[in-house]
Amino acid sequence: MAPRLAGLSAIVTGAAGGIGGAIATGFRAEGARVVGLDKTAPARHGLDAFLRCDVAVPDAVETAMADALARLEGRLDILVTAAALTGGRGRFPDVTDAEWDSYLAVNLGGTFRACRAAARAMIAGGRGGSLITIGSVNALAAEAAASPYVASKGGVALLTRAMAVDLAAHGIRANMIAPGPVEVPRNSAQFRSAPFRQGLAATVPMGVAGRPEDIANAALFLAEEASRMVTGTTLVVDGGLMARLPDLTPGDAQTS
Ligand SMILES: NC(=O)c1ccc[n+]([C@@H]2O[C@H](COP(=O)([O-])OP(=O)(O)OC[C@H]3O[C@@H](n4cnc5c(N)ncnc54)[C@H](O)[C@@H]3O)[C@@H](O)[C@H]2O)c1
Repeated sequence: MAPRLAGLSAIVTGAAGGIGGAIATGFRAEGARVVGLDKTAPARHGLDAFLRCDVAVPDAVETAMADALARLEGRLDILVTAAALTGGRGRFPDVTDAEWDSYLAVNLGGTFRACRAAARAMIAGGRGGSLITIGSVNALAAEAAASPYVASKGGVALLTRAMAVDLAAHGIRANMIAPGPVEVPRNSAQFRSAPFRQGLAATVPMGVAGRPEDIANAALFLAEEASRMVTGTTLVVDGGLMARLPDLTPGDAQTS
């Protein structure tokens, strides 16, 4: 069978991270040429090229996207935006202006600018394309004490739909992946702790955290021709976390 992305070219932001790295690796394994962007250089990478870029800095995104496009000889079929500020904990009344600004600048502003540059290149190429934003289940419901992150991911969800509407005429699709808890190097100590595992078992119907490869497989589907009619949607990859109502009457078989 031919590789699923044979002949296609992709840019992945956040490519030094757990999920972005797995997506870049997965795309390359399926025959795509991949240029990765990240603020931090990975220790090692198997990409066609890696470019350092802070997606919160408008000029830096323009320059890096142009550079990436040149490395791909002007052809761009797929963009994945996985770069994000994560973590960050603070009760809403204590959120500072600096925290708010930085989450919005990286997570929403960075997604907007990378997608806009990609859309312009895809329109110029005339072959359509696929924009895949990495949101979160926090775009659908709010985790406690994470309002800047939650708001930024909610923005990514609707930005993705707006892009789907505006770009469909050019054959460009836009979809968001909403991961639930996914174990990556950044959070592995927490995810492997007994209390967190117990929490996952109690709240996630599948009982465990996802792996970066689970998100890469979803991205692969949204990148390939098989998803040609899928646009403006959110693909939730969360082991059922968002599907289950909290149990209001523990012990009862049914609440209504
Ligand atoms: N791991 C999870 O449980 C989880 C759950 C839901 C959503 N997500 C989302 O998945 C995506 C990837 O997260 P991850 O879990 O792999 O975390 P990660 O920290 O491993 O990856 C994030 C990457 O973004 C990069 N980055 C941060 N700020 C940047 C900037 N200003 N410019 C360029 N790059 C920047 C980091 O250097 C890092 O490599 C994020 O959008 C995150 O919000 C993750």
